Amino acid sequence: MKKYGIIGYPLAHSFSLDYFKEKFRKERLEDCEYQAFPIQNISDLSDIIKNNPDLCGLNVTHPHKIGVIYYMDKLDEAAREIDAVNCIKIINNRPVASFFSGELSSMKVRLEGYNTDAYGFEQSLKPLLKRHHQKALILGDGGASRAVAYVLRKLGIEYYIVSRRARNKQVAYQELNADIMAEHLLIINTTPLGTFPETETCAAIPYEFFTQKHLAYDLVYNPTESEFLKRAKAQGAEIKNGLEMLHIQAEKAWEIWNS
Ligand SMILES: NC(=O)c1ccc[n+]([C@@H]2O[C@H](COP(=O)([O-])OP(=O)(O)OC[C@H]3O[C@@H](n4cnc5c(N)ncnc54)[C@H](OP(=O)(O)O)[C@@H]3O)[C@@H](O)[C@H]2O)c1
Repeated sequence: MKKYGIIGYPLAHSFSLDYFKEKFRKERLEDCEYQAFPIQNISDLSDIIKNNPDLCGLNVTHPHKIGVIYYMDKLDEAAREIDAVNCIKIINNRPVASFFSGELSSMKVRLEGYNTDAYGFEQSLKPLLKRHHQKALILGDGGASRAVAYVLRKLGIEYYIVSRRARNKQVAYQELNADIMAEHLLIINTTPLGTFPETETCAAIPYEFFTQKHLAYDLVYNPTESEFLKRAKAQGAEIKNGLEMLHIQAEKAWEIWNS
């Protein structure tokens, strides 16, 4: 049996749990199983690894994407730059003797940390980019914002981060005006605003300055058209929600676990 799972807290609704259960069913992967491990304290990761010797991979969600780094033996470039891990590959090097004796305590376990959010965002954004999308605004300054900023740097797109507590080179919401909106034709929402059930909320930006040249990208995927996307679309902007990013990052995790 190959076991996979997700760590986070709380884990009442987990996209990954539903996604992988459905994938295993559809693809008849009968030797695979996916489990939610709701842990409040990241130090419980060691027990999960110890008690689940068949575990091959984990997704990592809120609030452990940063804290889990401490437990990794290796980080990929994206995870290192973003300073967040959302996918762990677990490599069990079982010494032959302990394998036959069933003695698991002598198992050597190696943990590799990846950031597949960045990959999912990049792959879903790239097909939509036009020559005029040279400058961007990233709304919000959390973990997802760091993954988005990493990708924009990779793609050579200049950006400002818009934050409620704007520091250094960041921009405050109140500073956004017609000129800034006209200069920045890619606007990415990385705040949780607008997520079900609080679907009426959206970031406080001047939506009247969106144009047909703008691309509005929302990491939120439930509802499919957030208030942010609705308002941008009403001005003629192209819109994209976070669903494809979510699917791509999940499939990338699967590829990493099985490579
Ligand atoms: N589609 C995908 O594959 C995918 C992947 C990862 C994350 N996500 C989604 O992206 C969103 C952000 O994730 P995250 O982990 O970065 O979350 P987070 O750290 O909780 O929040 C991100 C940032 O949003 C801003 N923010 C939070 N509440 C706000 C409010 N009430 N008003 C204005 N700004 C607010 C804050 O920035 P400031 O304090 O600087 O204003 C915060 O740092 C979540 O909805 C998550 O589900 C989607």
